Amino acid sequence: EKGGHASFMHKEIAEQPRAVADTLLGRIGADGELLLDELRIPAAELREVDKVVVVACGTAFHAGLIAKYAIEHWTRIPCEVEPASEFRHRDPILDARTLVVAVSQSGETMDTLMALRHAREQGSRVLAICNTNGSTIPRESDAVLYTHAGPEVAVASTKAFLTQLVACYLVALYLGQVRGTKWGDEIQGVVRDLAGIAGAVERVLADMEPVRALARSLAGAGTVLFLGRHVGYPVALEGALKLKELAYMHAEGFAAGELKHGPIALVEEGLPVVVVVPSPRGRSVLHDKIVSNIQEIRARGARTIVIAEEGDETVLPCADHVVWVPVTPTLLQPLVTTVPLQVFACELAVARGNEVDQPRNLAKSVTVE
Ligand code: F6R
Repeated sequence: EKGGHASFMHKEIAEQPRAVADTLLGRIGADGELLLDELRIPAAELREVDKVVVVACGTAFHAGLIAKYAIEHWTRIPCEVEPASEFRHRDPILDARTLVVAVSQSGETMDTLMALRHAREQGSRVLAICNTNGSTIPRESDAVLYTHAGPEVAVASTKAFLTQLVACYLVALYLGQVRGTKWGDEIQGVVRDLAGIAGAVERVLADMEPVRALARSLAGAGTVLFLGRHVGYPVALEGALKLKELAYMHAEGFAAGELKHGPIALVEEGLPVVVVVPSPRGRSVLHDKIVSNIQEIRARGARTIVIAEEGDETVLPCADHVVWVPVTPTLLQPLVTTVPLQVFACELAVARGNEVDQPRNLAKSVTVE
């Protein structure tokens, strides 16, 4: 069943280009328009939406954090993202014009289910982004956009995460298309870029041996920090979560701009710090700020592991290790920058003798409260 792979996790990481392509299949028209009639929410209603709230848990929550950047940029609709376990137990401000997006691989996560019930009781529409046909969350939602990752067996989510991102981008772009935004031209371009993204993921996967070697060399490390800005921030959180659950190591993700407000006190000689660097094109301020963050931590002895865009030579003087990813529009970068972090965590887990498909204390779907 593992098709020659060492574990389901190895297999599922390798399947990501196909999972991403399958999730796009049939959803982009010949002229680059999005075909999401399957949502069955009339365009007139989508034009009325004045707030989007994303609820999810764990890795799916990280997909939601990234969705916020895309939704607010392309649609100008305010978007909030909250762990379902928090949302369900408070008194959020919702009404019929709020679109609640519930993201779940399994479709059975209890907190996410309770959060969507909480939203529907207040008259909000719920759109599920889900990988499991006919599961409870899509059944109880007003609409569903299925991710086509195929069955995910390993407990740690990998290919489902990438397809959740694709689905979130599709929803953001579709909302932009239906409502018409000033980013019309940009949206067309992004749709073309999305159509080519599976190839970019494939290229990242083709060159992972240096990442695996690096991971093995860090098997004895106590702590690993992850830093990012903008959409790289949730990627840093996801990199840290993967390392905790698979390698049982202390790992934390931070917004790089928060470093000087506390976390930099953790930096000491030899501490591995993974930094997700945004593209030097486009929002170049972000890029330059993160390069100075890398310089700051390196001056304090950190071992800097930098994920950067091909051709971005500005990172070379401050990086101990560089992992190159293909040139990708900033908002879509998580689709390529997450992959090396998955491989890194998987290889570290193996190097530490852990069972990667069944990490201790975890279950594939958390159907209890
Ligand atoms: C992490 C992981 C979990 C799940 C979370 C939500 O690798 O797998 O954090 O992402 O339990 O699960 P679903 O998406 O099934 O609702």
